[in-house]
Amino acid sequence: MSLFKWVVLGLLPLINGFVLLNDHLQSSEMTRTAMDSENLHNELPYSTLHLEEAEAALEKSMLLNTDLRMEKLNPANYRATRAAQVAVHYLNYKQGSLFCHFSRRKIENATLEEISGVGNKYFLTFTEDETPNKHATGVHTAEILFRHTITKMAPEVNSTYNGCVKNISEDENTFYVRMRKQHQLVAGKYIPDGHGNIPIEMEPFWHLGYTASSYIMWKESNESTLFNMETVLSFQQLASFL
Ligand SMILES: *[C@@H]1O[C@H](CO)[C@@H](O)[C@H](O)[C@H]1NC(C)=O
Ligand SMILES: *[C@@H]1O[C@H](CO)[C@@H](O)[C@H](O)[C@H]1NC(C)=O
Ligand SMILES: *[C@@H]1O[C@H](CO)[C@@H](O)[C@H](O)[C@H]1NC(C)=O
Ligand SMILES: *[C@@H]1O[C@H](CO)[C@@H](O)[C@H](O)[C@H]1NC(C)=O
Repeated sequence: MSLFKWVVLGLLPLINGFVLLNDHLQSSEMTRTAMDSENLHNELPYSTLHLEEAEAALEKSMLLNTDLRMEKLNPANYRATRAAQVAVHYLNYKQGSLFCHFSRRKIENATLEEISGVGNKYFLTFTEDETPNKHATGVHTAEILFRHTITKMAPEVNSTYNGCVKNISEDENTFYVRMRKQHQLVAGKYIPDGHGNIPIEMEPFWHLGYTASSYIMWKESNESTLFNMETVLSFQQLASFL
């Protein structure tokens, strides 16, 4: 992957306001302040996650312990969903690659801890279905802390996820061999296309776009957001060092 230099020229997130993509990416090395976490990844999320009003109705909270202010949430609760999405963006930002991509998993358990003077912390347990790429299975957990601060802070995420267990070098190698045969720089538009299809040769570029936008979606998230990237509008390879 380091052999290539790409820029994702246009991304169409669900919510506007990501025009600073390139600036963000350039500064990403300096702003990687959050703790290291593990993997997670998976199938292509063509579909957009819409927050249904009805989801709020599913909320069924149960007070576990008044002193600790721990609250067990229904896993379908919108607050659990939003926290899970933040974890997914963070993991994609840290771990995503051309052949390793994560999307939201089934949430088994969700607990909210209100830490007085600090913020809200979510404890989530996910189950992992076997992905189309057979990258990972199992159960993992994530902790997401939304700090209550005056200045905006990206949510903090810890995860036990160990997703990219599959040796992806074979996929990458196939990709590089294919790229080496290209006599011109690669460019493309609209991934997926208007029918939601992603041609197999375009998948790595879709992953690339998702990984790039994940950084911004993670950083811009708060307890009220549910960001997702839907379409890579266009991309352009700038150079080849092969
Ligand atoms: C999480 O959910 C599973 C069932 O899906 C249950 O067996 C387990 O005890 C739960 N764990 C916690 C910490 O609530
Ligand atoms: C993540 O883990 C570190 C080290 O154990 C801990 O200090 C930090 O509070 C954790 N953050 C969250 C959001 O759980
Ligand atoms: C991954 O597989 C390639 C061959 O396909 C092998 O050369 C490489 O050592 C493997 N890497 C790991 C970490 O297993
Ligand atoms: C969460 O982020 C959205 C979008 O950036 C913003 O409009 C909203 O004010 C933020 N909410 C909080 C509580 O910070």
